[in-house]
Amino acid sequence: MASRWAEALEASGFDAVVVAAGRPRFYQFDDLAPFFRPNPHFTLWFPEKHCEGAVLLFTPGSAPALYFHSPADYWHQPAQAPDWAAERFELRSFEETEDLEIAVAKALRAHRRVACIGEDPPESWAVEANPAPLIHRLHYQRACKTGFEIACLEQATENGVKGHIAAREAYRANGSEFDILRAFLAGSGQTEADLPYPCIIGRNEHAAVLHYQHYDRTPPADDHGFLIDAGASHLGYGSDISRTWPGGDAAAFAELIAALDEQQRALIETIRPGLNYLDLHLAMHRRIAELLNRFELVRCSGDAAYELGLSRTFMPHGLGHLLGVQTHDVGGWQTTPEGGETPPPDAHATLRLTRTIGVGMVFTIEPGLYFIPMLLSRLRQEAGAREVNWPQVETMTPWGGVRIEDNVLVMEGGARNLTREAFAALDST
Ligand code: GLY
Ligand code: MN
Ligand code: MN
Repeated sequence: MASRWAEALEASGFDAVVVAAGRPRFYQFDDLAPFFRPNPHFTLWFPEKHCEGAVLLFTPGSAPALYFHSPADYWHQPAQAPDWAAERFELRSFEETEDLEIAVAKALRAHRRVACIGEDPPESWAVEANPAPLIHRLHYQRACKTGFEIACLEQATENGVKGHIAAREAYRANGSEFDILRAFLAGSGQTEADLPYPCIIGRNEHAAVLHYQHYDRTPPADDHGFLIDAGASHLGYGSDISRTWPGGDAAAFAELIAALDEQQRALIETIRPGLNYLDLHLAMHRRIAELLNRFELVRCSGDAAYELGLSRTFMPHGLGHLLGVQTHDVGGWQTTPEGGETPPPDAHATLRLTRTIGVGMVFTIEPGLYFIPMLLSRLRQEAGAREVNWPQVETMTPWGGVRIEDNVLVMEGGARNLTREAFAALDST
């Protein structure tokens, strides 16, 4: 991390950088705040979540200095720098924010040009806040993970898979969405504050709401199927995993899930450094279009369904995104370290990743096939509607949809599927 940042600082003309963890922000007209999330750039250096108000100063060639805020507070347990921090940083702890800021200002006097990554740096620091040339370089390089980051993502995946196995059992015992949420949290060893993103837990047609955010307290009367998209974190790094399980009364849905699962794995087999992620996304659309034909959702061939854009109604999101200290990790469209972006084509505007695939990248592969009433009624107004087998679509609409999402690491010869590896190790069924 230090050598990466040194390179980015040199290329953008800074001799040091201050990174501020940030502070919780209160709800409007309130004295309570949502769970604190540190500035992700701070997490890259200090992967612990209890670091409110801390500041890191990095000067290439020296050990980074950590100014830790440990206030005198009898309402909360004050954050404490962990033991390991003293081995990695020039560590100083402060009770008062003002003293911390003065100490940083003093240290900065020795420098010529300093950048600050964070919100509202004090004027006394005389820093340039969030300079675009530096931010662009830092965001660009984050796509390819260090060995430490890969180890964190492996552990986050393992924790998430444990949660998924517990959630599946809760579903099979006819738990409500709320019961399943609790099973996921317990299985993955997390509180809600630990989650990388809110769990998406949808039974039946709730699976058609891509980021479904409610948790019904009672199980539905009919059991068609269940979609869960939930991840776990480890030292600030998060996994992002989806599975879909067929219901007791929908044998045909089980076939659709198995078919999408097979296509997802086959696509992952094709991943190689040097390919473009957009091409993977388009290749997945061709596979989805073939499934539309195979499951008689369209009357035309798979090729014709693809050319007519029908697959976009059934899979209206991107194939995946970079993964790291943020679930949708930054830099997915950034195709140069200087900040140049390549957005996806208009017809695929929701795709978050358009970069050339490189060794060390970690991203998701998350194809889906959904029956979304809003998008289906739009399609009914379009020319492609005549190729759709509407009675078949209506039969399947109560199933909601399927999403299968794995986290993969790009290697020289192909991709490692971190999620499947963890399921193979942990799932005895
Ligand atoms: N869970 C959000 C996503 O899959 O991107
Ligand atoms: Mn997800
Ligand atoms: Mn995802």
